[in-house]
Amino acid sequence: MDGNGRWAKERGLPRTAGHKRGVERVEEIIRAAAEVGVKVLTVFAFSSENWTRPKKEVNMLMSLLDNFLEKRIAELHKNNIRIRVIGRDKPIPDYILNKIDSAEKKTENNTGLTFVLALNYGGRAEIIDAARRFAEAVASGKESPEMLNEDKFEKYLYTAGLPDPDLLIRTSGEMRISNFLLWQLSYAEFYFIKKYWPDFGKKDLQTAIEEYDRRERRFGGINAVKKNS
Ligand code: FPP
Repeated sequence: MDGNGRWAKERGLPRTAGHKRGVERVEEIIRAAAEVGVKVLTVFAFSSENWTRPKKEVNMLMSLLDNFLEKRIAELHKNNIRIRVIGRDKPIPDYILNKIDSAEKKTENNTGLTFVLALNYGGRAEIIDAARRFAEAVASGKESPEMLNEDKFEKYLYTAGLPDPDLLIRTSGEMRISNFLLWQLSYAEFYFIKKYWPDFGKKDLQTAIEEYDRRERRFGGINAVKKNS
């Protein structure tokens, strides 16, 4: 969800105004994705590197998140949406961690769209955390190194049990991955759009999906592989 700051700057507004509008867009895109039958929607809300931003901006992002968890979960739950949060806990404030925990528990049996919020997330940190947890399981005799393969390793990632993304959308014209889902994006289709996140709407999501539909995926082979519908 890139470009909130630039969107605000172009309008002579504080960066925080861009983030506020950004949250409204998240809500719209969750609804739109559920409508078109997307099974899993993951948004990069806060990276493990975002803590280096000015304290005022970090606090504002935490407060938007707090507000989202406080006010929006009931509606998502009503719409059969499941919430999952991926990333490291520390140093997210406890009052937010508690709300995350309760949102995940409340919605865990929902069978519609899974909405994944990447929060204090870093792709390299995720791989390190998975490797550490696997090593601990080996040390305690629950796993053995010979048994390690890709399927097994995936069970140690934050995204355990979720499918790999088919499509990555990055807004704001930047063309980089920025430490997002490094393992999981191996065969994803990439879609870049110049619009800033606060301007990204339902129509843009539909256009991205249509473009994805035209892509031919070969997964390293020579024949097109049938896509998920
Ligand atoms: C990137 O734009 C955006 C972020 C780092 C924050 C995104 C977070 C939210 C929209 C709010 C939290 C989310 C939820 C679901 C409550 P940028 O600030 O890097 O923009 P710039 O590159 O133009 O400066």
